[in-house]
Amino acid sequence: MSLLTIETTCDETAAAVIDADGTVRGSAIATQERLHERFTGVVPEIASRAHVERILPVIDAALTQSGMRPSQLTAIAVANTPGLAGSLVVGVVAAKTLAMAWRKPLVSINHLHAHLYACQMSTSHSVYPCIGLIVSGGHTSLYRCEAPLEMSYLGGTIDDAAGEAFDKVAAMLRLGFPGGPAVSRLAASGDPAAYAFPRPMMNDPHFDFSFSGLKTAVRYAIVGPGKQDFDAVVLDDATKANLCASFQAAVVDVLVTKATRAMKRHGLNQLCVGGGVAANPRLREQLSIEQKRKGFRLTIAEHELCTDNAVMGAIAWEKIRRQDFASLDLDIQPGLQRGY
Ligand code: KG4
Ligand code: ZN
Repeated sequence: MSLLTIETTCDETAAAVIDADGTVRGSAIATQERLHERFTGVVPEIASRAHVERILPVIDAALTQSGMRPSQLTAIAVANTPGLAGSLVVGVVAAKTLAMAWRKPLVSINHLHAHLYACQMSTSHSVYPCIGLIVSGGHTSLYRCEAPLEMSYLGGTIDDAAGEAFDKVAAMLRLGFPGGPAVSRLAASGDPAAYAFPRPMMNDPHFDFSFSGLKTAVRYAIVGPGKQDFDAVVLDDATKANLCASFQAAVVDVLVTKATRAMKRHGLNQLCVGGGVAANPRLREQLSIEQKRKGFRLTIAEHELCTDNAVMGAIAWEKIRRQDFASLDLDIQPGLQRGY
């Protein structure tokens, strides 16, 4: 029994063939990093056009690698929410077309559920019930998770996502795109205490986040308050490293503090962390220090399952087991209401 999963929520075109026991038979991913690099952020129109060009070769590659024929597939699953409208529509149309042509049931995937399911896929013990933290380019949110498909929203960013703040700080320092890996690489040689950046909302009792003010604080540290002219500023490598390390420390402090407080408030002893920013070494390190101090169970998604991929679409098996299929008029839902 094998499932074809399709993922096009943002700027990765991905497909995978996964068995009911989680065995990955085939997986292909076409990243668009180079296409968006000069804009230092994902340009939705470029993303959707690139998905159109890549979706069939990517599905073909995953199927070929798996050695499966379409007739052997149990179902076709696709992430239809949340994400960029033009990107989602390419995956959803491809999945619906193949489901119709190959006469296979269709399954819808919530991309955020899939990000946390990546944690379950990264360990052998059950991660539920848990507090789930999703930190990516588009999301920074906390959930109470009872089961793979049962998540309740506790709070999230009211402005920028953590990953977006990493990307924008990298852009200010001309470190390329995506910014997270570049900032964390440089931060490794910097002093996290060099700049006293704010820890927005860290001590507020709610579970919302805000990173746009922190981004502005970094900007002021680079060019000075009220100034725009990045071109006039030349920074040496040590200063850049200190800025990166101090910024990263501020983001990580907020994430770790709020996630552990959520566990305490909800009487839970497990924390799962997924999404692109979960690849950040300082976040991983600080979480594991906190884990040792407080004795909770921590599951961070494996590196290759942190950023967008189709393998985490294995969550669709949870729906297939419940016979929870989508109809062929499945639509995209780009923006969920806050949290959903
Ligand atoms: O989950 P993802 O691939 O896409 C979204 O669903 O948004 O996350 C991409 C984000 C980008 O903002 C990228 O800069 C960030 O994850 N990221 C990192 C690191 N690696 C990727 N942020 C901080 N540190 C990293 N090592
Ligand atoms: Zn994502």
